[in-house]
Amino acid sequence: MRVRRFLMSLSVLLLVGCSAAAGGLGNVVAPGKVWLSDLDISKTQQGWGEPRKNLSVDGNPLQIAGKKFERGLGTHADSLLYIELNGGSTRFNAQVGVDDEVNRAGSVEFRILADGKPLFKSGMIKSGDAAKTVDVDVTGVTLLILAVDSGDDMNYDHADWADAFFTVSGAAPKTVDAPKEEAVILTPKPSPKPRINSARVFGVRPGSPVLYTIAASGQRPLWFSAENLPEGLTLNRETGQITGKLAKRGEHKITMVATNDLGEARKELRLVVGDTIALTPPMGWNSWNCWACAVDDKKIRDAADAMVKSGLINHGWQYINIDDCWMVRLNSDDPVVGGPRRDEAGRLLTNKRFPDMKGLTDYVHGQGLKIGTYISPGPWTCAGYEGSWQHEQLDARRFAEWGFDYLKYDWCGYGSIVSRPTLEQMKEPYLFMRLCLDRIDRDIVYSLCQYGMGDVWKWGAEVGGNCWRTTGDITDSWGSMAGIGFAQADHAPYASPGHWNDPDMLVVGLVGWGPTLRESRLTPNEQYTHISLWCLLASPLLIGCDLTRIDDFTMNLLTNDEVLEVNQDPLGKQAVRITQDNGREVWAKKMEDGSLAVGLFNRDEIAQTVTTQWSDLGLGGKMRVRDLWRQQDVGSFNGTFSAEVPRHGVVLVRLFPAE
Ligand code: GLA
Repeated sequence: MRVRRFLMSLSVLLLVGCSAAAGGLGNVVAPGKVWLSDLDISKTQQGWGEPRKNLSVDGNPLQIAGKKFERGLGTHADSLLYIELNGGSTRFNAQVGVDDEVNRAGSVEFRILADGKPLFKSGMIKSGDAAKTVDVDVTGVTLLILAVDSGDDMNYDHADWADAFFTVSGAAPKTVDAPKEEAVILTPKPSPKPRINSARVFGVRPGSPVLYTIAASGQRPLWFSAENLPEGLTLNRETGQITGKLAKRGEHKITMVATNDLGEARKELRLVVGDTIALTPPMGWNSWNCWACAVDDKKIRDAADAMVKSGLINHGWQYINIDDCWMVRLNSDDPVVGGPRRDEAGRLLTNKRFPDMKGLTDYVHGQGLKIGTYISPGPWTCAGYEGSWQHEQLDARRFAEWGFDYLKYDWCGYGSIVSRPTLEQMKEPYLFMRLCLDRIDRDIVYSLCQYGMGDVWKWGAEVGGNCWRTTGDITDSWGSMAGIGFAQADHAPYASPGHWNDPDMLVVGLVGWGPTLRESRLTPNEQYTHISLWCLLASPLLIGCDLTRIDDFTMNLLTNDEVLEVNQDPLGKQAVRITQDNGREVWAKKMEDGSLAVGLFNRDEIAQTVTTQWSDLGLGGKMRVRDLWRQQDVGSFNGTFSAEVPRHGVVLVRLFPAE
């Protein structure tokens, strides 16, 4: 009897302990050990893949430098997990390191914050390094944050919190979501007076059709005119579209004018007829981050309509780009996407979701927009659709006939042609398509996509790319966006007009890789960081959300003309990292007028003051500081400027010599 009662109470205790550990019960006493991996680890935010219980991020048994671990959390930098301890735990123990499953060099730093204060820092740990021991006192701690930061970049940063457990004497630890933030709109409403927002420089090749739309905000009706428009070009007074052709090389200084009942705006446009196009980073939309393979003709037309109707077009957004999945799918019985991939002459066919490609491009052009396409140099694309392999010239011609203005050329299936390419082999398919594009009389922005292999930023321009992806695919997590964005510092020397580093497309608004979409999982401050950083990086700006359902907060992110001007500056410099310490980073971009655009970022989990010194920025004397998101002068400063920056947030300013 006594034995039975003892066993019963033991099982009750175990049950309580288990459910408390699983996060099911709140303040339950569960003395002893609680494994981190028994908590709800799905709340982990990370840069790539999904968090795994007792396995690495790729699903293998946990192993660090040859040592196997039965329990733990497999994640990927940049990674964050918020855990409420509510004073119930006394110690946290773990073995941390890079999982052996990566065959390339990953490098990470593990950090623990207790109630906002640093409690543990592992220092940089590389692939092959023995696991480091974590053994920290968490007595009295309410909120514990487990963080893994990437080292150089986030590639191969498979991070393990192995053998991780809490010693619990009171409330059970419980994972929670990161704090919610209010989505505060900072961008002032555009003035009803005319303002011209399109880029101040535009490149076109001799003899190619010109399509430049003067982007202007202000109350409608609004009328456009231009002074010194060279012969061969015409301007549509109502739409601001400049079309025509110029045969001779050279530069034209045109004055663009926009007028409405409230006044007139003037802006100089430098039109350069020469070999280089995309003299400022391309700005537009791409179907992948929202629709992925659920894309069709209607969604593209809807995106074009929405680009105009929402007013995005008035702020310089101009490309509508179709990503993967418009061609015919290999080995597919599905009558919609399967079928013959080319006609008898070898020309590309579309799948049934795109019944009339020429009709579609005409429609998009008719809106004053440009249109882009996508294919792989290999026999198939990433999603398994027809590639250009051995049809390159035909395809380039087809793209031109259809009227495309942008081509994303995605390595993917080419991996079946050369699996371990040398540098020369990496360049080859890109050079070849360049030659094909050179033989057509249409300007097509050439976007290389091969995820940064072989340090593509060093030779992307040499093979004729206008931009080149420097990373793997972005997703809408802080880990991914920040892991990618803040790893771009070394690429700055390779950016110039016509040649841009591309850290991948934007993940603000409704995204989700289709057909179902979700709100971006980035917090409002993370979204400000995303747009500010991409503008400083002079990155192509390709919106990835459903434009037909764009909310006010997202519009605020995408229509701030002073912020976008940083991206579109004709000097074409990419920002460099000035300082970096304890999650605070200062990046600065030289602007054509001699001013500096400066981002004060806070990558940490709590608000911090971020300071920048004139001596670090190469400045002297008094500077006028303008807050670009708020479009307000902050004041004149001498020698230094500081701002309070929220968790994962930014203060973006522009520094002008004070009068
Ligand atoms: C790759 C690219 C993505 C997207 C997909 C399409 O993953 O990096 O941007 O184009 O292919 O399949």
